[in-house]
Amino acid sequence: MGRETRARIDLAALQHNFTVAAGQVPNARVMAVVKADGYGHGIEAVAGALAGHAERFAVACIEEAQRVRKAGIAQPVVLLQGFHQAADIATCSKLQLEPVVHSDQQLNALSSAPPDRPLRIWLKINTGMNRLGFSPSVADQVIASAKSVPNVTLAGLVTHYACADDRNDDFSLHQHDTLAALSSRYPELEVSAANSAAHFRDELQPFDWTRPGIMLYGATPMIGQSARELGLKPAMSLESVITTTRALKAGESVGYGASWRAERDTLMGIVCIGYGDGYPRHAPSGTPVWINGQRTTTIGRVSMDMLAVDLTGVGDAKVGDTVELWGANIPVDEVAAHAGTIGYELLTGVTSRVPRIYNAV
Ligand SMILES: Cc1ncc(COP(=O)(O)O)c(C=O)c1O
Repeated sequence: MGRETRARIDLAALQHNFTVAAGQVPNARVMAVVKADGYGHGIEAVAGALAGHAERFAVACIEEAQRVRKAGIAQPVVLLQGFHQAADIATCSKLQLEPVVHSDQQLNALSSAPPDRPLRIWLKINTGMNRLGFSPSVADQVIASAKSVPNVTLAGLVTHYACADDRNDDFSLHQHDTLAALSSRYPELEVSAANSAAHFRDELQPFDWTRPGIMLYGATPMIGQSARELGLKPAMSLESVITTTRALKAGESVGYGASWRAERDTLMGIVCIGYGDGYPRHAPSGTPVWINGQRTTTIGRVSMDMLAVDLTGVGDAKVGDTVELWGANIPVDEVAAHAGTIGYELLTGVTSRVPRIYNAV
């Protein structure tokens, strides 16, 4: 039977969230971002569940794109960081992958060894994120160079917002306007800027293609607004079971560092999940969990393979009962807030030790 720690993946929730995203941008098209193993949900299953919905997929690197292709997905796949080796250019054209070209090195590699089959590429414009991309001041020149490479079609321009998760920011507008001004001179090029957060910012037009990631998985992209308030459904439920219980006397401690001490007699349960599974070690005592229809909390430090919870007053909690660490009842974003991080990190951090169990759709 095994350890009974699992991530249940609700593919119908994923499809629901995609439909929400697509409904928000009726005049644009949506490429589903499935990098980092489909944000921890399993790239093959996620791409498969969205194959009938999304016209394009986006991943970080060629290895992820190859997994999408092996899963039999036919849609074009955008490589958000392009290729890292010149030798990968041929793989891109063979597998119909569309690299985002963001640096002189990549452009030079293309120009000096053009692909022998057609290749569509995108150019990344740095509008303020200052990680990757060409400055708008050299964009005309770069666009001309890209267009001159044999067998290469320049599909469009992309940029990435730095602060769209904050409804009070105006930096995104500056980024948006910079891209809009540039792209207005190239009506033949498609344009893509919006991440999930920009889907919820009416003042940011979606251009031709949006690129939502986190919202598809049912976690919030916005500061101060829950996924539920945004109409999103969690796609992952991280579950384990109680493996043992112990009656602690007031004053007794639990776990490494004896960092938590019982203020009153406490019924404690040990749950078979820890940071070796991707549950955050930074989650302090008091982080919520869901057992038998009730909220309770973790106590003490998270260990590699287990953690402790307070079962005092939790119905008839006993060995074998299911514990939801996050999912429909405990939003991943709430656990993330306790652990001082974001839902993205928790979802992508669930380790390979945890089997993903998929519902049928
Ligand atoms: C270039 C790019 N586009 C889109 C996304 C999707 O962002 P989000 O998950 O916030 O929707 C990411 C994610 O990091 C990204 O790096």
